[in-house]
Amino acid sequence: MRVTMIGGGYVGLVSGACFASIGADVTIVETDPARIGALRKGMLPIYEAGLDDLVAENLAAGRLRFTDSIQAVAGANIVFLAVGTPASRGDGHADLSYLFDAAEQVAPCLTGPTVLVTKSTVPVGTGRRLGALMAERRPDLCICVAANPEFLREGNAIEDFLHPDRIIIGTSSEAARSALAALYEPLTHTGGPLINTQVETAELIKYAANAFLALKISFINEIADLCEKLDANVDDTVIGLGLDRRIGPRFLQPGPGFGGSCFPKDTQALVRIAQDAGAPARLVETVVAVNDARKAAMAGRVITAFGGSVRGRRITILGLTFKPGTDDVRESPAITIIHRLVEEGAIVSAYDPMGINHARFQLPSRTRLCESAGAALEGADAVVIVTEWTEFRALSIAELRANMRGRLIIDLRNILDAETFRAAGFNYRGIGRPSSVCEAQEEPYMPLRARAAQ
Ligand code: UDX
Repeated sequence: MRVTMIGGGYVGLVSGACFASIGADVTIVETDPARIGALRKGMLPIYEAGLDDLVAENLAAGRLRFTDSIQAVAGANIVFLAVGTPASRGDGHADLSYLFDAAEQVAPCLTGPTVLVTKSTVPVGTGRRLGALMAERRPDLCICVAANPEFLREGNAIEDFLHPDRIIIGTSSEAARSALAALYEPLTHTGGPLINTQVETAELIKYAANAFLALKISFINEIADLCEKLDANVDDTVIGLGLDRRIGPRFLQPGPGFGGSCFPKDTQALVRIAQDAGAPARLVETVVAVNDARKAAMAGRVITAFGGSVRGRRITILGLTFKPGTDDVRESPAITIIHRLVEEGAIVSAYDPMGINHARFQLPSRTRLCESAGAALEGADAVVIVTEWTEFRALSIAELRANMRGRLIIDLRNILDAETFRAAGFNYRGIGRPSSVCEAQEEPYMPLRARAAQ
């Protein structure tokens, strides 16, 4: 099966390499000169665990190749459109300009019956518009349009692709259905079922899935806030909820709010789609509002902990990416938190195992970006854990004591054990966890060298 993937970004690269690994002959078209240059040198423009090996293996096997020429669609059985569909400036609608530009470039290069598939997340009705465009541009060819949304999580994308809960195919064309069934056949043995439906339904399933997951997160975040008022414990609440098979334990971890390149964009897009359709999605509108407010409120927790002012306070932020296992800082709560703390006069140091380079461009220049947690913690009055990287779970009392001058820990991911750190004299504050009465004694700040001389 000859597959051409238009777009060598996150979705295109992962999907193209995975299709090659299950036996397809894949050409990825990337027209961005910097990206195609890097790809040709075997350097991936994105980080995704295991992707470099998967790409190298399939390049070596001759099942995968990169090009900057759209001519690569000639002779392909299936052409996937995996270009960006970012939120357009201001109004939250998905910007489809890249998608339709790609379709316009693809049309004249097609040489035979082709299945044209949207892999990117696209508003409901896009597939139908693409079909009309292709019929107009190439009345001489049978070009069947389908929607095949991805459900890949950053950091788990290869696993999610090769072991899908389900494969959704939206099309009215029997030729498209059978071509895609043949392409995915190696996965339908091991993964979840392949579901055939209409194009519009497939496009909606993607938005509805992301919006529902975002809803679960915002729900548990509000329950966590309620726990704090009632001196209840969100950890046990999550267990009590998650054991209900109708609810399930996943996506019920409270935190500073969801980020990433998908949930924020897709919830906003669904709100617009629903409004335009005259069926406002009020729950999703609330999810967007609750999440935006939450990110802003997280810095407020730090300010409140210092009695209303952080001016001159040394505050360490651990975690800049929107989740662990990625270098992606898009819509990350940490960025919002740091901007607010710096505006309020705090002296902010930050560390992240993978996100520093991307975060640098989104942070105030005064932010001190460090190469290790220890360096970032030096002289800190408070540490705020924003991303649940494994190395932060291993933070020791000794390390915090040795580096910090204050004793305030604000754990926005509940990854540290509250009682252990409180018993060691820290003023530990989590999310949705019973508050402590301990107000840790602040030791006078001594530069490290003075301590070392003691
Ligand atoms: C998401 C969807 O999971 C995936 O199916 C879709 O294809 C793309 O969008 P991704 O954005 O990569 O994937 O990450 P995900 O693991 O879903 O986390 C998204 C955000 O929700 C992160 O900021 C994460 O910290 C937050 N989150 C997730 C929580 O706050 N609590 C949770 O329990 C789970």
